Amino acid sequence: MKGIILHGGHGTRLRPLTHTGPKQLLPIANKAMSQYALEDLKKAGATEIGIIIGDVYPEKVKEYYGNGEKFGVTITYIYQDKPKGISHAIRLCKDFIGNEKFIVYLGDNVLRKNLIDYTKKFEASDSDAMILLCEVGEPRRFGIAELDKDNPGKIKKIMEKPKDPPSNLAVIGIYFLTPKIFDIIDNLKPSWRGELEITDALDMLMNQGNKIEYDTVTGWWKDTGTPEDIIHANKLVLDSIGTENQFLIDDDSEIKGNIVIGKGTEISRDSFVTGPAIIGKNCKIGPAVRLGPYVSVGDNCILKNCNLEESIIMEDCKINAKIDLSSSIVAHSSEIEDNDVPKKQQFLLGERSCLKI
Ligand code: DAU
Repeated sequence: MKGIILHGGHGTRLRPLTHTGPKQLLPIANKAMSQYALEDLKKAGATEIGIIIGDVYPEKVKEYYGNGEKFGVTITYIYQDKPKGISHAIRLCKDFIGNEKFIVYLGDNVLRKNLIDYTKKFEASDSDAMILLCEVGEPRRFGIAELDKDNPGKIKKIMEKPKDPPSNLAVIGIYFLTPKIFDIIDNLKPSWRGELEITDALDMLMNQGNKIEYDTVTGWWKDTGTPEDIIHANKLVLDSIGTENQFLIDDDSEIKGNIVIGKGTEISRDSFVTGPAIIGKNCKIGPAVRLGPYVSVGDNCILKNCNLEESIIMEDCKINAKIDLSSSIVAHSSEIEDNDVPKKQQFLLGERSCLKI
C-alpha cells in the first residue's frame, strides 16, 4: 500500500508560528509533527509516500524530507496550489496511487498506537474504505460519524463539524481508501467553507452502496490545530519516553529515566531537569536552570537562569532571563534576555523573535 501525507493548508490558527513555515514541520518533542505520520506509514509497510505540499514554504518540506532516503522511504511531492480541501488534495494523487488500496494521513495528526493492525485489517478486507473513530469532548471541532443503532457495526452518516453533533465519535485524520474514492471526489461539491471535504466524499461513497468499515482508536490521538494542542501533544509524546513504544530517540541520545539528552549537551551542576523532557544536541543548560516537566529543547540552545515547564523551545534559541515560562512555544533562533525582574510569563514567539524584558 502507498501512503499520502497532507502537508498543505495555511495553519492560520498557529500564527505567528506558521508565518515562516508549514505547521506540519513544527516540532513536537524535537521531531517535525509530520514525521510521526511518515514513521507510522513506514512501520505499516507504506514506504512509497506521496507528500502533498501547498503554498506555504513548500521548499522547506522538500528540504526536510528530501527524496526520503534518510527516513527509509521514497517520496514523491505532489503540489496543491491552494488548500481546496482534503478531498481535493487526495484527488491530485490519482496517478501516483494507480490501482491499489492506500492510506491518507493528515500531517498534523499524531496517534499513540501505530497503524500496523489497522493496515493488516484493511488489506484483508473487501471494504471500499476504513475510517478510525475516537471519542472526543468537543465534537463540533471534527468530522463526526453517527453509528447505525439498528445495524451494529454500521455507520449511518458521516458529517463535517456539525453544529449539533449526533455523536462524540470524531473521524480522525487517517483514512484507508481504495481508488473508488477518486470518482466520488469528481462528483463532489464544495462545502459551505469552500472545500472539497473528505467527510462528504466518505458519506457519498457510503450512500452509493459501497462498504465502509470503522475501527476505534485505543490510546490517544491528537489533531494539532492550535498552540494549546501542540503543547498537549508534546506532553503526550514525552510521556512515552522509557516505555516500550516510545516515539523518540536518535541513536546518539542518552536516556536517563524519562529524560532524553542529545550528544554534546552540557548541564551545569546547579541546574535541575525534571522529566519527562527532551534536550537536543549541543545545548548549554545553566547556570541556575529549572527545566521540566514536559519541556522539549531543540539543538544548540543556550539556557541560563530560567525556569521552564510544559513548553517547547526550538533549535538555536538563547534564553538568559530570570523568568518562569509555562505553556509557551519559542520558535527557533529566538532570544530572551531580562533586566533581573522575576515574573511569571506566557509567550508564543515566532521565529527570530527577540524579547528584552
Ligand atoms: O484531524 C481530524 C480532522 O481533520 C477531521 O475530523 C475532519 O473531518 C477533517 O476535515 C480535518 O479537519 P481540520 O479542520 O482539522 O482540517 P485542516 O484544514 O486542519 O486540514 C488537515 C490537514 O490537511 C492539515 O495538515 C492541512 C492539510 N490540508 C488541508 C487542506 C484543507 C492540505 O494539505 N490541503 C488542503 O486543501
